[in-house]
Amino acid sequence: MVTKRLPLMDCLSRWQELPSREAHGFFAPGRANLLGAHMDYNGGAVMPVALSKGTYAVAGLRDDGLLHLESAQFPGEVLELPLSELRPQREPGAWSAYVEGGLWTAMERWGPLPGLDLILHADLPMAKGLSSSASVECLAVQVVARLLGLDPDTDLMIHLAHAAETKYVGVRCGILDQTAIFLGRADTVLHFDCLELTREHVPLDRREARIAIMDTGVARELASSAFNQRVSECTRALVLLQEHLPGITCLRDVTLEDLERLERFLPPVLQNRARHVVEEFARTDFGADALRLGNVADFGACMTRAHESLRNLFEVSTPELDALVQAATEVDGCYGGRLTGAGFGGCVAAIVHPEAATAFEQHVIAQYAEATGRQTEVQWFDPAGGPRELELP
Ligand code: GLA
Repeated sequence: MVTKRLPLMDCLSRWQELPSREAHGFFAPGRANLLGAHMDYNGGAVMPVALSKGTYAVAGLRDDGLLHLESAQFPGEVLELPLSELRPQREPGAWSAYVEGGLWTAMERWGPLPGLDLILHADLPMAKGLSSSASVECLAVQVVARLLGLDPDTDLMIHLAHAAETKYVGVRCGILDQTAIFLGRADTVLHFDCLELTREHVPLDRREARIAIMDTGVARELASSAFNQRVSECTRALVLLQEHLPGITCLRDVTLEDLERLERFLPPVLQNRARHVVEEFARTDFGADALRLGNVADFGACMTRAHESLRNLFEVSTPELDALVQAATEVDGCYGGRLTGAGFGGCVAAIVHPEAATAFEQHVIAQYAEATGRQTEVQWFDPAGGPRELELP
């Protein structure tokens, strides 16, 4: 498809301004999580899809030990430094930290590259809950593996890309994003149990349901304290519950009955956080069963209930996210919707019968503008494949 090649062509035209070297093309997708919100770091299950949008790159080796890094999203900000100077949190918050982190963890594991030119172009909005950061981490790990001539196990690549985020960038995220990206498969939703590490690709028939992504227009800062604060709150709830349930290792191990019996030992905010996790675990289980049976309506209803819980109990929604979910779920043919990603802004994902697509777009755009005074648009996706090498023209 011509439009999909454009980001790669942009990388290539910038590549031509560099001294000539052998060039390789790469792509890593973004992801949308449909069910299992804030479950990965609580040992729960998640149900994400990889998207057909993500990060494109042209990369090649150089022999002077330098990293030369450019991104179409940050024109004029060319980074050039010795690869040996990459250090965790070298520049916290910088756009390049995610790329550097992926390169750093991969080279710590597999040994250094002799030097690297890397030119990026993402067609995924950044800081919008679609994992633009994990997409570049996964891409960077894939680039190092390929240029060293390795063909590593996918689990190792997931682990290295995840370490880029936790060790290099310093966000205490779980393994959802990197797993969703590396295990992306067309026309399926991944059901991944983050404790048991079991995976299953559950079909989502595009004749029955397509994924609509709507941007609130409000960006969020994942590295900001809010995400790490939720992780700390869940850890505190776990520690308090462990005094009464010594056998549990994560919040996912707590049953609803135990929580109802013991929640008086938790401060009210922690009661809410724990209740979200316990109920979301059951909801994801139920949603996965529904989808296995081809029951998209029940799966979608779980998404909408998940959003309510994220709003009321986990408190990571915003008025704009709520307005989009409200508008989306008012349309006949929309099965359900919720904020995707960590929350605090960003995008909503909804699943919609294809025949309702036009009515859905019209209603959501108009209602969102009326409720918030902001503009949105609807982008349509079907679950797509994971990172891959691209043939260069
Ligand atoms: C972010 C994190 C993930 C996960 C989600 C919430 O995307 O990077 O690890 O915790 O938020 O489900």
